[in-house]
Amino acid sequence: MADLPSQPIYVDHNATTPPLPEVVRAMSEALTVAYGNPSSGHRQGEPARRLLRNARETLQRCLETPEEHFVFTGSGTEANNLALHSLARHSDCIITSAIEHSSILRSAERLQAQGKKVAHIGVSADGVVDLDALRQTLMTNPRAAISVQWINNETGVLQPIGEIAALARTHGALVHIDAAQAIGKTNASLKALDPDFISLTAHKFNGPTGVGALYARRPELIHPLCVGGNQQDGRHAGTENIAGIAGMQCALERRYAHLSEAITHMGTLRDTFESIMIEKCPWVHVNGSQERRVCNTSNLRFQDIDGQALIGRLDALGIYCSQSSACTAGRPEPSYVLCAMGLSEAQAYASVRFSFGITSTQQEIELAAKTVANEAERLKRIFA
Ligand SMILES: Cc1ncc(COP(=O)(O)O)c(C=O)c1O
Repeated sequence: MADLPSQPIYVDHNATTPPLPEVVRAMSEALTVAYGNPSSGHRQGEPARRLLRNARETLQRCLETPEEHFVFTGSGTEANNLALHSLARHSDCIITSAIEHSSILRSAERLQAQGKKVAHIGVSADGVVDLDALRQTLMTNPRAAISVQWINNETGVLQPIGEIAALARTHGALVHIDAAQAIGKTNASLKALDPDFISLTAHKFNGPTGVGALYARRPELIHPLCVGGNQQDGRHAGTENIAGIAGMQCALERRYAHLSEAITHMGTLRDTFESIMIEKCPWVHVNGSQERRVCNTSNLRFQDIDGQALIGRLDALGIYCSQSSACTAGRPEPSYVLCAMGLSEAQAYASVRFSFGITSTQQEIELAAKTVANEAERLKRIFA
């Protein structure tokens, strides 16, 4: 019998990550010093204006984008909505994949209901977007726009965004990359890809919730969703979330100052977790490509076990993990991502996502793996 955790063990970093203490301090300082409205003409607006300028500079430096054109948003979801809304204005067909985040899929659905053509590209059994199908769709839709995620939130599978961006360029299509799960977890550069739009969200890299950004290579392509004031050059009306943006900037700076160490750390934890799991429960399968995977995600299939029962039991023991994305977890549906990869509903229900972060420790991950393995064995006997 493994020792039980004396402290909760959080292994759901793809859902959200704890803000670093320095992020909390940066936010508190912003609220104290930069409380002025950045749109105010008087001097009290200047610290907030400066903070916005600095944050854009940091985003450009860390993401290596050619321009500093970032629209601050209230979430990754909002950045994705803004991207699709804008792409729809400048294309005749939106091409996306079957495994995108719900903010893309629901936005595409809404555009479709308004008469826009939308095509969904399938994925392989490994969870990788089908490039041949994408090429075919681009060939039959001359004025298309592509929206694709860099890293899948459920499986951690890395999409071939280099090839996708090259295909887009060949066919003159606009391209949007949902980088919500990628920022701070890969050192692959966006520089060479030069996409038209990139979405990100601070709470996936130890920044605060409720703040994200949309990069636009050509800001004039942004079609605002939110109108009213002239903030952000009229591209996103509403007084900016200065403290949130300060927190995002701080989190990004910290992560990029130690990016390689962070990636190595999370990768070591993921490998430790999986090797313990596979050693103790050889019947467990890893969902998604193991070669093309982000460092921190392990989506495991516990054949013949109800994943919700396992998650509930682990929750009671103080181990926090999840099934499907946090945004849809409340709905009793199997993961559409895993189903699109060809898993049966039963296999999707039997799958659980564990995701590790920079604040996770080797000791807690070893303990988590042993506890998960014990509980899985116990449930397997019950379900048999
Ligand atoms: C790939 C992906 N895109 C977008 C989002 C939405 O981000 P937010 O939670 O900030 O709305 C998420 C969040 O889980 C995500 O994983």
